[in-house]
Order: sequence, then C-alpha cells, then structure tokens
Amino acid sequence: MPKAIKKLAVLTSGGDSPGMNAAIRSVVRTCAYHDIECVGVYRGYEGLIEGDFKPMDARSVKGIINKGGTILKSARSKEFRTIEGRQKAFKQLIGANIDGLVVVGGDGSFTGALIFNQEFDFPVMGIPGTIDNDIYGTSHTLGFDTALNTVVDAIDKIRDTASSHNRLFFIEVMGRDVGHIALNVGIAGGAEEILIPEEDLGLDRLVESLNRSRKSGKTSSIVIVAEGDKIGKNIFELKDYVDENMEGYDVRVSVLGHMQRGGAPSCFDRVLASRMGVKAVESLLEGETNYMVGLLNNNVELTPLEKAIKGKSKINLELLRVSDIMST
Ligand code: F6P
Repeated sequence: MPKAIKKLAVLTSGGDSPGMNAAIRSVVRTCAYHDIECVGVYRGYEGLIEGDFKPMDARSVKGIINKGGTILKSARSKEFRTIEGRQKAFKQLIGANIDGLVVVGGDGSFTGALIFNQEFDFPVMGIPGTIDNDIYGTSHTLGFDTALNTVVDAIDKIRDTASSHNRLFFIEVMGRDVGHIALNVGIAGGAEEILIPEEDLGLDRLVESLNRSRKSGKTSSIVIVAEGDKIGKNIFELKDYVDENMEGYDVRVSVLGHMQRGGAPSCFDRVLASRMGVKAVESLLEGETNYMVGLLNNNVELTPLEKAIKGKSKINLELLRVSDIMST
C-alpha cells in the first residue's frame, strides 16, 4: 500500500509557458478540495534543493488564472542533475512532510522527476508545460495554443507591411526541435512556405517555390521558419541566399523571440491547465506515480513519464499537405 498523501508540492520548471499559473491554481485548489495541504516550490528544482517552499491555500492563487509566466518562477537547475543535488532535494521534501510532487514543465523537467522517483521512491506526476508542443502523450502542451494565437497576431501585422512594400519576409518562430508552432501559424497566417526541422526542403526548393509564387501573381510573401529548421545556419543566411540568387526581391527578417512565450493564456489553455491540475492531484491521491497528464482525444489521460520522455511528438502530416495546397 502506498503511503497516504496528506501534503503535496508543486513546482514549475524549464521555459515558462502561458497556462502555468492556471495549472498551479488548479493543483492548489484540488488539494484544498480534497482537504490536503499544498506547498508551492519557488524556482523549480533550484528551490526544491534549497527548501524554498511556501504554503498555498485556495485563496493564495486568486487572480492568477489569466496571468502569463509563473508566479512560482522557473529555472533550469544544474545541481539537480547531480545525485548530491537530488539528495538535498529529497531531504527538504521529507523535512517538510511532503508526500508527493507535481512538476509542470517539459521533457527535461520530467527526466529529472523520473530519476528522482527511481532513486528515492518519491511519488511524482508531470503536467506538460511548454509552448513547443514537443511532448509525446498529449495533443496539446500548456501554452501551445496561446503561443499560436500570439504568433498569428504578429504575422498578421507583418503582412500589412509586407504587402504595402511588396516584400518577402522570413519570420522565425520558436520550436527548438519541432515544427508544431511553425506549421500551424504558417497555415493560419497564410504563409507561402513553412520550414520545419522535420522536413528538409533545401535552399533550391525554397527558391523554386518563391519563383512559383511570384509567377502566380503574388507580390509579397511570408515564409515561416521554425527555430530548429536545418536549412542554412540561421534565418539570416536564408535572406542572404535569396539576396544573392534571386532578382527583384526586397527581403526582411523578423525573429519573434521570447514575446511568443508571454501573455495571458487563451481560454483553451486555462481550461486545459485546470483539467490537468485536477487529474495530476487526484492521480497522486489514488496512489499513481511516474505519469504525465496529457490530452488525448479530448480526454485527460495518463502516460508513463518514461514514454513521455522517450516518445517522439510527431508532426501532423495532414497539416503539411493542407499547407502545400493553401500556398498554391
Ligand atoms: O522550450 C521552449 C523554448 O521556447 C524553445 O522553443 C526555445 O528554443 C527555448 O525555449 C528558449 O529558451 P530560453 O528561454 O532559455 O532562451
């Protein structure tokens, strides 16, 4: 029989994403609903090592569901990657009578949680929080939907200037290893081309495709480039290549950067965070551990952390085809 849970901790780790606060709120309120204690851990695993804990009751999370970022702050901890660091963290948790931990973060954060469980048999549960949507076992990570809306808004604005000046814009969006953001915003923003790490288009095909667009009567173009795309060293090299190899283009580059991670979470992310927080806490109370809570076919379900870490989140091939057809 697993030990009955009377007190849980929640932390946010890795890159922040909109919806993390809504998830914290949900974890805290689900604990209050089931009459168990909850503490917030500041600065992710750094705060866990240092015992930077704060008791949280239902009222302590008022007014945060609509806020971007994370009130608990986030960090990428080097010390937690060492056994000494994890031992300190375990001592802090035991010293504070904490029986389980909810980790809101990405695959790096989940890897830490899984190792921690394997070493100390401490119950852990993951909630996927990253704008990249690069986690296996969920159709949506927290913050992905908000980031899509933020980026589409930016593309719409850039399009105004692109069409006023007959320009070609390369717009870089986040996505270190995957093209989920690029593919979706490319379709929604009416891009001519979408360059993603999963598909190596190559510079020649890019040039070909731009020529085709021009011949078909387009006077301005938008190309969405995922940060992790492998064509050229970076987005500026793409501009240089077009400048050198294509006549009559007025090319500009726009790197959207960290503005994509900020802002108020969308309705979808708030609801998703609330659902995931409930499931995470109730699963721990039922004695489950080493799982990630995810959205699968619109149901909130558990995936073993190991699978969530090792599995590949695949690009939707139908979206690729739609984007090709739309850029005709
Ligand atoms: O993982 C989310 C992400 O936004 C990536 O898309 C990006 O490469 C990275 O974080 C940037 O991280 P940092 O905040 O450390 O610059």
